[in-house]
Amino acid sequence: MKAYERLLLENKAWAAEKVLDDPEFFSRLSHLQTPEFLWIGCSDSRVPANEITGTQPGEIFVHRNIANMVVHTDLNLLAVLQYAVDVLKVKHIIVCGHYGCGGVKAALTQHSYGIINKWLRNIKDVYRIHREEIDSLKIDDERVDRLIELNVQEQVMNLAKTSIVQKSWKNNHYPHLHGWVYSIENGIIKSIFEMEAGTHLDPIYEFDDL
Ligand code: CO
Repeated sequence: MKAYERLLLENKAWAAEKVLDDPEFFSRLSHLQTPEFLWIGCSDSRVPANEITGTQPGEIFVHRNIANMVVHTDLNLLAVLQYAVDVLKVKHIIVCGHYGCGGVKAALTQHSYGIINKWLRNIKDVYRIHREEIDSLKIDDERVDRLIELNVQEQVMNLAKTSIVQKSWKNNHYPHLHGWVYSIENGIIKSIFEMEAGTHLDPIYEFDDL
């Protein structure tokens, strides 16, 4: 059997098991999705949103990219964000990074990776903002781990800087924003940074005419 054929076989077994547990499972989900959460995570194969949070299909709207970035010119991210906030009306947005993130590690080097340089530039900017704190750490792994945490914090703040989130804060008093970091070594998620709906930002980022 070819490697990819195993996936199709496993899929059949999974679908059969779901129906056995809950005969209405697929017919219910086929009518609507009402997730309460938007998950912005790393593409890393070891950090599957549903599995590590014990959630089922239908519970989390998911966007993943290298190093869980919220880049304000990224049309893909913005489309997901607007749909999640305006249409699905999610109550919480989670940015979940992970220790040992290859994207963050690469951003801390001076190596050129080709087209991915443009993506990593956003992480280098986070380093520059927090250079003093990162550079006070002498051990390489500690520097990477701290940048991973600070990167999550900055991405949560990037969400708060969007008119999409600010407009919903004004009209609905949600979504609440959460910055988490997952440990690949023990499977535990640590909460790093929280932003309640309506939290004030540096005024230059606050729109006054939404
Ligand atoms: Co990663």
